[in-house]
Amino acid sequence: MAIDGRTPAPARAAAHEESRPAIDHLIGIDHLIGIDHLIGIDHLIGIDHLIEQEEERFVDRQPQSRELYSRALTSLAGGVTSSWQITRPQPVFIARGQGSKIVDVDGNEYVDFHGGYGAGLAGHAHPAVVEAVSRQVRNGTHFAQPSEDAVVVAELLAERFGLPLWRFTNSGTEATMDAVHLMRAVTGRDLLVKVEGCYHGHHDSVQVSVAPHGDEEIGTVGCPLGRPASSGIPAATTALTLVSTFNDLEGVRRLLEEHRGRIAGMIIEPIMMNAGIVQPVPGYLEGLKTLLQEHGALLCFDEVKTGLTVGPGGATRLLGVTPDIVCLAKSVGGGLVTGAVGGTREVMAHVASGDYEMVGTFNGNPLSMAATRAVLEEVATDAGYERIAALRARLEVPVNASIERHGLPAHLVSVGAKGCVTFADSPVRNYRDFLLVDDRFNHLHWLVQHNRGVFLPPWGKTEQWMLSVQHDEGDVDRFVDNFDQFAAEVGCTLRA
Ligand SMILES: Cc1ncc(COP(=O)(O)O)c(C=O)c1O
Repeated sequence: MAIDGRTPAPARAAAHEESRPAIDHLIGIDHLIGIDHLIGIDHLIGIDHLIEQEEERFVDRQPQSRELYSRALTSLAGGVTSSWQITRPQPVFIARGQGSKIVDVDGNEYVDFHGGYGAGLAGHAHPAVVEAVSRQVRNGTHFAQPSEDAVVVAELLAERFGLPLWRFTNSGTEATMDAVHLMRAVTGRDLLVKVEGCYHGHHDSVQVSVAPHGDEEIGTVGCPLGRPASSGIPAATTALTLVSTFNDLEGVRRLLEEHRGRIAGMIIEPIMMNAGIVQPVPGYLEGLKTLLQEHGALLCFDEVKTGLTVGPGGATRLLGVTPDIVCLAKSVGGGLVTGAVGGTREVMAHVASGDYEMVGTFNGNPLSMAATRAVLEEVATDAGYERIAALRARLEVPVNASIERHGLPAHLVSVGAKGCVTFADSPVRNYRDFLLVDDRFNHLHWLVQHNRGVFLPPWGKTEQWMLSVQHDEGDVDRFVDNFDQFAAEVGCTLRA
């Protein structure tokens, strides 16, 4: 079914509905209570009305995407290549990217604040990455033998993250999977602790309590229950993953005592970035390291998102806590497929000796290593971070002023290249607080920005925007102007 700008509204609405049930489930719009108790149902109906208008405009602007999506549904499961590319009201097919901009198949240009779910620190077609990759393409793209670039990358990561030994993977999922295996290999124990609401990729051990909904039995904040995050995750595996609440040191202490001598380690995003942005309270990460050490267990930071985006040495350096293992992916590869695992000498001795076989045909692929070296040497530089800090300041001041001026029940959270507006009147400290944030506001924000030339990451309140070293003042000003328009409309609706 081809949908274009001339399609009558009822057909367009029906087309929306085709994909809506799945998307509603994934976004969780219907499950969230939000700040409804403060706002009142009439005002939320007003927000729903604004969403409807913006979704219509969204679809009208993208007839080619709609057509490709309809065609894709017959050959790509769900019409996309990853379930998180399903966006509401429809997926957006991209034709190309250059610098800070991307262009969709309908020819609409956007300032890219999506950053490919946090991989876009370099922006698009960064000259250093283009040069490195082009050179390597001409010299062969795969040998399954080590290269000099891999050595340089390992040396540079060791310097930045304070962990001496590294290996490479092809994704964040592979990195955290190896990290979990390693924690088990080193300690000879099976149990793992993870944090409710943290996403660490789609392998079994960490597909537990990623985004449990209020309509499931999820236990209490002090004692969350482990829930499989998807179908296909065996109950036996889920039972090996114990769940704790972010910022709850006592919860981890309780688990370590209850399961004394059986916990291999804990995996955690040091700054939660799959629930907006949730900062650790002072002492939490240090406390975890001490507690785990006392119990002979290991600490793994999943820095797949925070990695180079929050600073040159990730959250590890920014927050001053060095774990036993760090996982990287996304932005470290400059847009190419890569991941990395760094560890202490003691941990990585199990890899070096072959006790834990960390393998993969494409690990340390020369194309990925060339791009990663270019990122470390020419993108994620002091100058790059200074530029990002200046742009972030240029964005924060007026966005905060808009929130204030239009009386939004919201606050801005940002760190390094990442930021988000959270629709809550106080800081979110964990996944349970996050569940109370009403996703409607973030969905409307994504639509308003999108329809006015700024491509935010989809998935509403879950994701963050991302600045790259190629963004400029004009890009930020466009976002700020759009935000003010959004804030004015929402403010007006809430006061009506
Ligand atoms: C914190 C975190 N860890 C791991 C992953 C998995 O990475 P990948 O999608 O490259 O497998 C993600 C992906 O979003 C992530 O956000």
